[in-house]
Amino acid sequence: EAEIIRDKDEMRRWSRRMRSQGKTIGLVPTMGYLHQGHISLIKEAHKHTDLIVVSIYVNPGQFAPSEDLSTYPSDFHGDLQKLMAVPGGVDAVFHPHNLYDYGSVGGGGRSGDCDVREEGKGVISCLEERGFGHETWVRVERLEKSMCGKSRPVFFRGVATIVSKLFNIVEPDVAVFGKKDYQQWRIISRMVRDLDFAIKVIGSEIVRDADGLAMSSRNVHLSPEEREKALSINRSLSRAKFAAEKGQTNCRELRDLVIQAIEEAGGRIDYAEIVEQESLEAVEEIRNPVVFCVAARFGKVRLLDNMEINA
Ligand code: PAJ
Repeated sequence: EAEIIRDKDEMRRWSRRMRSQGKTIGLVPTMGYLHQGHISLIKEAHKHTDLIVVSIYVNPGQFAPSEDLSTYPSDFHGDLQKLMAVPGGVDAVFHPHNLYDYGSVGGGGRSGDCDVREEGKGVISCLEERGFGHETWVRVERLEKSMCGKSRPVFFRGVATIVSKLFNIVEPDVAVFGKKDYQQWRIISRMVRDLDFAIKVIGSEIVRDADGLAMSSRNVHLSPEEREKALSINRSLSRAKFAAEKGQTNCRELRDLVIQAIEEAGGRIDYAEIVEQESLEAVEEIRNPVVFCVAARFGKVRLLDNMEINA
C-alpha cells in the first residue's frame, strides 16, 4: 500500500517521520508513463534502502517552449497499477501538482529570460514562459554543455534544479537514475558531489525491449515503421561496441559506422559521440573506458541510446 502524496510539506514530514524510525529512504525520480526501465530503477533502489519513494512529475523547467511538454504522455492510474505490481512494492508516490507555485504574495513576479547560452539570446524554458516567480537555477557548467545540452540548452539546468528540489523535499539517502540518460546521470552525480548533498547516486543499467530498442516513454509516439527503423540505433551501437572490443580504437571509424547505419534507415542524427565515461570529454582514440552516446530523430520522436565500451 503506497501512500500518494501531493503536497511537498507533507512529503517532507513523511520522510522525516520514517527517518526518525530509523528507516533509510531511496528516491526514484520520474516523469511518469512508467515502463520496465523505470521499474528496474525501483528494484535497484530496493537493494540499498528500507523504503522507496517514486516521484512522478513532468517538469516544465526542463522543456523549451518548442519542445514536447504538451504532448508528453501521462497515465497516473496506469502508473499506480504498475507500481503496485513491483516486487517489494513502493512506499510513497510523490505526485505534486506544481513545484514552482510558491503562492507568491509580494515576493513573486515574473522571472526574466535566462541567458542560458551566451549566444542563445532569449532561450527560455516553459517555466519562464508561464511566468512563475522562480529564478534560482542549478548549473553543472561544463558537463551540461555537450551532447544533449547543445540541442536542448535549457534541459540540464531544468533537470539539475528539479532534482535538487526533489532532494530537498524528500531528503533521501539514495537516489537511482538510469544510464539510458547517461549525461543526466553523470550531471546529477557531479552536482551531488559539488554541492555536498548527503545522497548516494546510483546509475542503473539500460532496459531494452526484446528487439533491443531502449525503453522510453516517448516510444509510444513511434509508428510501427519508425520503430523498426529506429532499431538501427541499438544495432549499429552494438556493432561499434563489438568492433571496439575486437581492437578498433579509431573513433572516427566507429562513429561513421553508426552515423551511416542510422542515416540509411532514415534517422536524423542529433549527435553520435564517443566520450570518456566520467568527464564526458570526447576522445579520438579509445584508450580508457568510454561511452558511445547517440541522439537521433525518427519522425518527430527524438531517441537516446548509448553503450559503454570497456575495451
Ligand atoms: P524519465 O524520462 O521519466 O526517466 C526517469 C528515470 O528513468 C531516469 O533516471 C531515466 O534515466 C530512467 N530510465 C528511462 N528509461 C530507461 C531505460 N530504458 N532503462 C533504464 N532506465 C531508464 O529522466 C527523467 O524522467 C527526468 O529528467 C527526471 C530525472 C525525472 C527529472 O525531471
